[in-house]
Amino acid sequence: MRGNWQFLKAQARPTLQQLFADDAKARVAALTIEQAGIRFDLSKTHLDDTLIDGFVQQAGAMDLAGQRQKLLGGEVINPTEGRAAEHTAERGTGSPEAVELARQFHARMRALVEVIEAGAFGKIETLIHIGIGGSALGPKLLMDALGRNTGGIEVRVVSNVDGAAMAEAIKGIDPRTTLLAAASKTFTTAETLLNLESAMQWMRAGGVDDPHGRVIALTANPDKAVEWGVDETRILPFSESVGGRYSLWSSIGFPAALGLGWAGYEEMLEGAGAMDRHFAHADWRANAPVMAAFADLYYTQARSAQTRAVFAYDERLRLLPSYLQQLEMESNGKSVTAEGEAVDYPTSPITWGGVGTDGQHAVFQLLHQGTVLVPVEFIAAREPGHDLDDAHHEALLANCFAQGAALMAGKQTDDPARSYAGDRPSTTLLIDDVTPAILGALIAFYEHRTFVNAVLLGINPFDQFGVELGKDMARAIEEGGMDDFDASTKALMEAALGDPAQ
Ligand code: F6P
Repeated sequence: MRGNWQFLKAQARPTLQQLFADDAKARVAALTIEQAGIRFDLSKTHLDDTLIDGFVQQAGAMDLAGQRQKLLGGEVINPTEGRAAEHTAERGTGSPEAVELARQFHARMRALVEVIEAGAFGKIETLIHIGIGGSALGPKLLMDALGRNTGGIEVRVVSNVDGAAMAEAIKGIDPRTTLLAAASKTFTTAETLLNLESAMQWMRAGGVDDPHGRVIALTANPDKAVEWGVDETRILPFSESVGGRYSLWSSIGFPAALGLGWAGYEEMLEGAGAMDRHFAHADWRANAPVMAAFADLYYTQARSAQTRAVFAYDERLRLLPSYLQQLEMESNGKSVTAEGEAVDYPTSPITWGGVGTDGQHAVFQLLHQGTVLVPVEFIAAREPGHDLDDAHHEALLANCFAQGAALMAGKQTDDPARSYAGDRPSTTLLIDDVTPAILGALIAFYEHRTFVNAVLLGINPFDQFGVELGKDMARAIEEGGMDDFDASTKALMEAALGDPAQ
């Protein structure tokens, strides 16, 4: 079914200043939701009762409640691939069978973490995690956010097929004290398999007699891993119905379980579980992922926003924007409805971003005075991630909150070059601290928000056929089959690698 945005086109909307003009305190209270250690402030968006009523009606028309039930109950929600999307089962919400299977897979992962910690592989100092996309971005984010100064096993993540990435990962470490995690849902991804071969060579050259014996496979396709050469005892499986970009809760999160310890990993799952329950039970108007999606849809459908920016005012969350890029753009970057009909309205905006305060001195000029509207999301933590002088954290938070205020207020002067239109929207997510539980809840919030966007857009967020054509063509080029390619591509190949016919 197609989304219907007629209700957004009806009348002129009040500005943010107008929305804040009467009873601003009540507005802030009404549009602030506190959940799982996160304060979601949506008051600096244009959402008001009229808009929210319209979105609530639209949620009814698109059967958001029924779709949520299907998602959380483990029913088929991915029609093009005829399967469920059971990432929440990893956190305890799902069909009883899926929850039980996830529990068993987690128990297996925990047992392996414990034998590694007990020294079954000898002294281990480093884990090289090899994967790409959803098989790398989650573990990378978790370790960067939570794994600083833990003093445990160092985790290095390699995703790019560019050998420079692998060269960097193996720099200065001893293959005899290193384990490899081969992370691939399908265990067929070309980049991951090539990187894995490269790591095998490095291990062999470094005096490891049985490099395959140092590989732990994290996959939903155990047969392929066995075929490749991983012993069944070192395979940590997960369910086929857990999508790649939703997989950090499964065995794909193994490096975090090893690097942070099992207790930390479990806290993360529990935090995500708390967000699942909030999404499952809260009224739409008090439901953080739902309300955030309403705001997203207002800006894409009514204000033609083609991008949304996410700025983490916390160094520990510097990888969050790139994690969200895959989650949001691979899920909702679609042109047809779940039934295959072409849509005649925009779907996913482009997610981009970075860290504050750096962004302020580089790209915020456009956010304040550019001609395109960019809804901005600010994320900050009450507690700092360091022991240095409080001045750092005070400055960081002051800057974060000032940016949201400035975007909204604007400033009029006699000089047009020095004037700011204002009325530019932002959301602020203030978290208590960057802990496993809160990060788990935060990521689960983004998953559900992406889902709600998809339901109201009428699209399927759980397939990603758009990535296949490029893969096929790369394979064809690698195999020397250039005949079907255009003249430009042929000339580039020739210029870079010589005439394939020679
Ligand atoms: O090509 C896209 C994609 O399939 C992503 O959806 C996925 O996260 C990534 O590649 C890696 O896939 P795999 O885990 O099967 O190696």
